[in-house]
Amino acid sequence: MIKIKGVSKEFKQKKIKIQALRAVSMEIRRLEFFGIVGASGSGKSTLLKLINGLDDLTAGEILIDGDSLKDINKKERRRKIQTIGMIFQQFNLLQNLTVRQNVGLPLKVQGKKNPQKVKEMLAFVGMEEHINNYPSQLSGGQKQRVAIARALTTAPSILLCDEPTSALDEHNGHEVMKLLKKTQEEFGTTIVFVSHELELIKQWCNRAAILEEGRLLAIVDVSKNQVVNSETSYYQKAMDYLT
Ligand SMILES: Nc1ncnc2c1ncn2[C@@H]1O[C@H](COP(=O)(O)OP(=O)(O)O)[C@@H](O)[C@H]1O
Ligand SMILES: [Mg+2]
Repeated sequence: MIKIKGVSKEFKQKKIKIQALRAVSMEIRRLEFFGIVGASGSGKSTLLKLINGLDDLTAGEILIDGDSLKDINKKERRRKIQTIGMIFQQFNLLQNLTVRQNVGLPLKVQGKKNPQKVKEMLAFVGMEEHINNYPSQLSGGQKQRVAIARALTTAPSILLCDEPTSALDEHNGHEVMKLLKKTQEEFGTTIVFVSHELELIKQWCNRAAILEEGRLLAIVDVSKNQVVNSETSYYQKAMDYLT
């Protein structure tokens, strides 16, 4: 379970302060497919990076399965963060490594090389035939599937997904969403899915948090049988459409 308590994040650029998150609190339950939705700049990526321990909080705290990331020592923190996987809009594969090397990288870094696991995860995402290819030889959808395989090699309990389909066409985006659902079902992974696309949140998420300018406006139970409402504010549109 991920507990986010009064989390704020401020960036300082020269003399300008940017309040990326303002006292955000929420709980993401084990095994949820949880959405984080909001317009560009609302703080979605910042929140994911904080959950993943990639950046420091300005205020508040984040607890992963009861442990605050700031209370534990470096080694424990590293172990904790290793139970969290992440995928990105631009896939973030290393161009000079093969698919096999990219997928094997997290295990290698942890000193736990496991060629069998690499093959197993590539089979899970349907990319085993491409094991010796380089990223430049793959389509966007294939790259994202490889990135998912890479994130899953360490058997994370949580997979953070930052706009994973935004660089893909509709068909490939759908394939990636199906794969995330399959990940949740087969491995019991909690999925945190960030998107500005309400349709995807509606179709795939159990609950969703709506962010605007760093503030949490609502957490909604996503209902699957409502029709689209007319244009108003992003918040009103999200509320009307998602609930
Ligand atoms: N490293 C950074 N330095 C300065 N400002 C940042 C940084 N990262 C994000 N921001 C700012 O914080 C706000 C939230 O950004 P972000 O979390 O990327 O939003 P989203 O992912 O919802 O588009 C934006 O105003 C953005 O410009
Ligand atoms: Mg973002």
